[in-house]
Amino acid sequence: MRTILAILTCAAVAHAATIASRSYPPPPGPWTAGVWRYPAPYYYGDGINANNGFFWLGKEPTAYCPTSDVDCSAYPGTSTIFVGGNDTVSLLVGVGGGQQVYIDANGALAYAQPNATLPEGAVINGFERAISEAFGAPTVLAFPSRNWQLCSVNGSDDGVYQIFLGNYTGDCLLFEMRTYTASGASAWEYV
Ligand SMILES: *[C@@H]1O[C@H](CO)[C@@H](O)[C@H](O)[C@H]1NC(C)=O
Ligand SMILES: *[C@@H]1O[C@H](CO)[C@@H](O)[C@H](O)[C@H]1NC(C)=O
Ligand SMILES: *[C@@H]1O[C@H](CO)[C@@H](O)[C@H](O)[C@H]1NC(C)=O
Ligand SMILES: *[C@@H]1O[C@H](CO)[C@@H](O)[C@H](O)[C@H]1NC(C)=O
Repeated sequence: MRTILAILTCAAVAHAATIASRSYPPPPGPWTAGVWRYPAPYYYGDGINANNGFFWLGKEPTAYCPTSDVDCSAYPGTSTIFVGGNDTVSLLVGVGGGQQVYIDANGALAYAQPNATLPEGAVINGFERAISEAFGAPTVLAFPSRNWQLCSVNGSDDGVYQIFLGNYTGDCLLFEMRTYTASGASAWEYV
């Protein structure tokens, strides 16, 4: 009887330890996001950019800086920088009000203009950024019961994909979202 109890206790402790060590708090500060995918087509952290309200692999960021009011040399707008990841995510920008990242009603990852009212069906809560226990201990961004997907907008295989966060349907490529520490803002505003 004592032996059985000891085994059960051991099993319970081992189980708790597995859960506790599944992930670790992420490094603080801003980050860039990249596509990690293995099998083919392979991607090893290729940058995800904000472009015309949505997020893309294979497109440059669309950024704006009002040259008359701001020292735009500090805002080249050449990369897409995020903050947060503990429930909510935003774009790091110079413009007041920031820019909320959300999932739209179609499952597309999207971003709002500063101080904008979000469209109906927008989901802003539920993002989870953490250091994974996977090999190399990548810092990943996840969302429970949804998968990251690369979807070709016109069915062509030209390396341009829009980022979705939904349930896998088979028409898109699954991937892991990895994040990488960034030094600060790149854009005054993404448009
Ligand atoms: C995330 O936010 C919650 C609520 O504000 C807080 O309790 C928790 O410690 C935060 N987690 C991390 C990893 O910062
Ligand atoms: C958004 O609102 C904040 C706070 O009211 C304000 O400081 C900021 O200038 C606004 N941004 C824009 C682009 O209007
Ligand atoms: C598909 O869309 C991409 C990106 O918008 C574009 O570069 C490409 O030319 C399009 N391909 C076709 C076959 O329309
Ligand atoms: C995806 O499917 C799971 C399991 O059926 C469900 O709980 C979840 O709400 C679905 N998510 C979306 C975005 O449809």
